Amino acid sequence: MSSFKKIKIIKPDDCHVHLRDEKILKKVLRYTERFYQRAIIMPNLDKPIIDCKKAIAYKSRIMDLSKNTKFEPLMTCYLTKDTSLNELKNGFFNKIFIGAKLYPNQSTTNSKTNINNLSEIFHILELMQKIKMPLLIHGEENHFNIDIYDREAQFIDKTLVPLRKIFPELKIILEHITTKEAVSYIKEANSSYLAGTITPHHLMLNRNNMFFGGIQPHLYCLPILKRKIHQNSLKKAISDGNKNFFLGSDSAPHLYTNKINPLGCAGIFNAPSSLLCYVTIFEEMKALKYLESFCSKNGANFYNIPINKESITLIKKPSKILEKINIGKNFISPFLSGEILHWSIL
Ligand code: DOR
Ligand code: ZN
Repeated sequence: MSSFKKIKIIKPDDCHVHLRDEKILKKVLRYTERFYQRAIIMPNLDKPIIDCKKAIAYKSRIMDLSKNTKFEPLMTCYLTKDTSLNELKNGFFNKIFIGAKLYPNQSTTNSKTNINNLSEIFHILELMQKIKMPLLIHGEENHFNIDIYDREAQFIDKTLVPLRKIFPELKIILEHITTKEAVSYIKEANSSYLAGTITPHHLMLNRNNMFFGGIQPHLYCLPILKRKIHQNSLKKAISDGNKNFFLGSDSAPHLYTNKINPLGCAGIFNAPSSLLCYVTIFEEMKALKYLESFCSKNGANFYNIPINKESITLIKKPSKILEKINIGKNFISPFLSGEILHWSIL
């Protein structure tokens, strides 16, 4: 019998992941489907997923490449001001879409949404509130004059607070939160209409890591890594067992040549290590008793989908994180590439 500590939890859902398409999808999918039963798939492809037809086709490209017959991709619709109400309603009622994603215009990779002012989509939000369709938000106020470190806090004050007054029963997921302001806002709202996802990289790192020993382009993501005080506030949020925070890795692969580039892309590919990172942090915070609810229950409950039946066992045994994934002559460099974590999957 091995003496390694083991933890068995319900198989988790990754409530925010970028799988991309074609040759990248083919290489990255296996990591997400190994650790997660379901994943909420971001729609910001080069040609975004703006309607049911595109979502169905993208989902079948994912399923065709999947090696795990039990893995379920949950699709999202990319909102623009031209999004058709019928399309959204049919997509939601027919379970093609689990929710719709709002990117502030030009806020990140493939986010030229054409929405300049939220009032342009109030009719869409009104419908979503009525049919209880979740709205996933990249919460950054995106303006050149707003300091990049303040964009999330400003988004809450300037956009989210007023928006929730107009649509108090709209189910909102503030994605990949990074600040103490977001943590307090979600905690204080204490609402079944507001939740936040938290990434492994925002839990493990702060902005110092991005400049440690030289600039580290692989740690550039959006929202950008913040001060340690914010990192600590995220760690505290997950270790209190609050049901309004859950797992969303924001694993976002980019080819090496697009990262190491004068205009390098934002995004951290963490799928090979995300779950191992979460267990590492929960252990550090002496909060392992809340690991399962964060990874496998809170998200499902918020999205109103059944809790998974399968389980997964994590074992306290060192594992080395994959160094790179070759994609033709190019490659993708994973988060914590070549480093050792103290946890593995049984
Ligand atoms: O760092 C990020 N990368 N943040 C996002 O919001 C998008 C993502 C991507 O698609 O690469
Ligand atoms: Zn994302």
